[in-house]
Amino acid sequence: MLLARREDRLRALADELGCEFDLCDVADRASVDAAAARVTSRHRAIRLLVNNAGIPGRAGFVGMEPERIEEVMRVNYLGAVWCLRAFLPALEASGRSDVVNIVSVAGTVALAPSGPYSASKHAELAFSRAASGELRGRGIHVHTVNPGFVETEGFPQSSILRSALLRRLVVGPEQVARHVVDVVERDKRETFVPAWYRAAAVAQAVAPGVVARLANRFGYRP
Ligand SMILES: NC(=O)c1ccc[n+]([C@@H]2O[C@H](COP(=O)([O-])OP(=O)(O)OC[C@H]3O[C@@H](n4cnc5c(N)ncnc54)[C@H](OP(=O)(O)O)[C@@H]3O)[C@@H](O)[C@H]2O)c1
Repeated sequence: MLLARREDRLRALADELGCEFDLCDVADRASVDAAAARVTSRHRAIRLLVNNAGIPGRAGFVGMEPERIEEVMRVNYLGAVWCLRAFLPALEASGRSDVVNIVSVAGTVALAPSGPYSASKHAELAFSRAASGELRGRGIHVHTVNPGFVETEGFPQSSILRSALLRRLVVGPEQVARHVVDVVERDKRETFVPAWYRAAAVAQAVAPGVVARLANRFGYRP
């Protein structure tokens, strides 16, 4: 079951995969609740929820339009919260189910030129970690996946990153998709893809000053 906003893209992909789709704006709680009601009327129990919807925010807190700052928080953070809450009865109806939250390395490292995006992903990371503890006893296993740079429609990293070194780190979305299947099958609680990005999270915690200097030198162009 695919959920997003653009019907033409959903229809084409659903035809290719042989699956269902429905329209949903995760930033709008009423839209999420309505979509969940339609889905769960057809599928009483849901085994897996992947919270993947997210939008970029390539500007700082001062430069970005206030409306965009709000939208980034509504989609990247609250979208995952509303989806989990809306699908919770169907996830519990499975007896044992999984939720995968696609967060980001930016949820563990604060990048100044994309501060509002980093803040939304920090919030989503806190949500995902806390929900993992809150729901495991109810049979719902919450997995946090933190991708690094991935070349996609919304995040065309190869043309955005100004550092040739960072451009060499960009991976394809297929690698993230395979990783999601793997974390569910192996019941991993929190992972990075590729795995070595974990070093960035450790560096941020241990030496935030060094990370800030490196991020300013090699990070996104605002
Ligand atoms: N690419 C990277 O470098 C990278 C790195 C770390 C983490 N991530 C995270 O990975 C996730 C996927 O990103 P991506 O790179 O695949 O971006 P993408 O190519 O832009 O895909 C984003 C998807 O989210 C959907 N979406 C966006 N806003 C939505 C909304 N309000 N309601 C419902 N669906 C919405 C989009 O479909 P519609 O527009 O049709 O709604 C689209 O299918 C995001 O959470 C992103 O933050 C990406």
